[in-house]
Amino acid sequence: MKILITGGAGYIGSHTIIEIIQNTDWEVVSIDNYSNSSEGTYDRIKEITGKEVQYYNIDLRDLSKTAKVFEDNPDIKGIIHFAAFKAVGESVEKPLMYYDNNINSLNNILKCQAKFNVPSLIFSSSCSVYGNVEELPVTENSKLSKSESPYAYTKQIGEVMVNDFINVNKGLKAISLRYFNPVGAHVTGLNGELSNAAPNNLVPFITQTAIGKLKQLTVFGDDYETRDGTCIRDYVHVSDIANAHVLALGVLIDGNAKKEHDIINLGTGNGVTVLEAINAFEKVSGEQLNYHIGARREGDVESIYANNEKAKNILNWTSEKNLDDMMLSAWKWEKYLKKNNF
Ligand code: NAD
Ligand code: WQD
Repeated sequence: MKILITGGAGYIGSHTIIEIIQNTDWEVVSIDNYSNSSEGTYDRIKEITGKEVQYYNIDLRDLSKTAKVFEDNPDIKGIIHFAAFKAVGESVEKPLMYYDNNINSLNNILKCQAKFNVPSLIFSSSCSVYGNVEELPVTENSKLSKSESPYAYTKQIGEVMVNDFINVNKGLKAISLRYFNPVGAHVTGLNGELSNAAPNNLVPFITQTAIGKLKQLTVFGDDYETRDGTCIRDYVHVSDIANAHVLALGVLIDGNAKKEHDIINLGTGNGVTVLEAINAFEKVSGEQLNYHIGARREGDVESIYANNEKAKNILNWTSEKNLDDMMLSAWKWEKYLKKNNF
């Protein structure tokens, strides 16, 4: 049985391929157009797992090329659809680019799922669908506020597309996973996030500052109503997120899904402040981080963290790695990048 991973050369996709290879007998087929990654990812996957990945360089917006992959691999029985653009700020600047890529790619994947009768789909959603939350921790039933960015809106629309599609395609099933803040790298330090663009998120900012690629980290505001004044997020190790995909697909494949389309939060359930994240990094790395407190970042939510009961109940998933593991692996990866002149 083969599993199609879209965006398999990307950050979460590559870690998921590693977990699949190491924990299942499924074969992997990856589609990526390297808009935010490169083919070199497959070498790193091989270094960790010893296995070659079958892959295609295809833009998922091209329906006929995408369909050809299914024609050539009739044993594809599951799809994990990661491929999308994901930079929140960029989506505000270039909304059509985000609608074009994220919506059309998903549309084509759903068309192929129906045409080639692929029973199981996992869709990458995001905690950003919640927008500004009223109650913490957020459950899957928490109200979705108006999206704060075109990116977040593509995830809200994506969940609705999957839902409407599954409703009328009997026999097909899906799970949308709402990730909170995936961070860290493979425990070996041999694979991690390697975007084509400058980093957008806190942890790469921390490690790039510590290694000297960036001069100084700005903490975006310390006047929030939190325990130390900085924003609270639910950081979750990327390999834990990857492992949840293996479990979720397993639930669908084994016929154990309670709903045709379910939506599940993936977070640790623990809120961590920006200063706590920095302290954890300093502790595990032994480095002193050059940072200063700056102004608030526009659009930031004060606090958000997950209620993860549903993931425990339905997927039998809990995160295994703690904040120190996240920071240590991210630091190992940053040092690997430096050593290998990335
Ligand atoms: P990533 O950018 O590292 O990986 C996405 C991959 O998809 C890249 O390799 C990119 O080249 C590829 N891709 C994009 N558009 C494509 C297209 N049209 N055709 C073929 N390939 C295409 O991102 P990631 O962090 O691994 O995120 C994976 C998914 O998870 C995305 O859908 C993202 O929105 C979602 N997500 C990510 C986070 C996060 O913080 N990383 C949080 C919540 C949700
Ligand atoms: C985390 C915290 C910043 C950088 C985004 C998306 C979300 C999801 C995850 C995709 C915040 C603070 C950051 C810096 C800082 N992605 N920070 N200085 O904004 O929670 O979530 O990524 O779906 O949809 O919105 O993540 O890593 O940017 O920020 O102080 O240089 O770190 O203010 O509190 P965010 P982030």
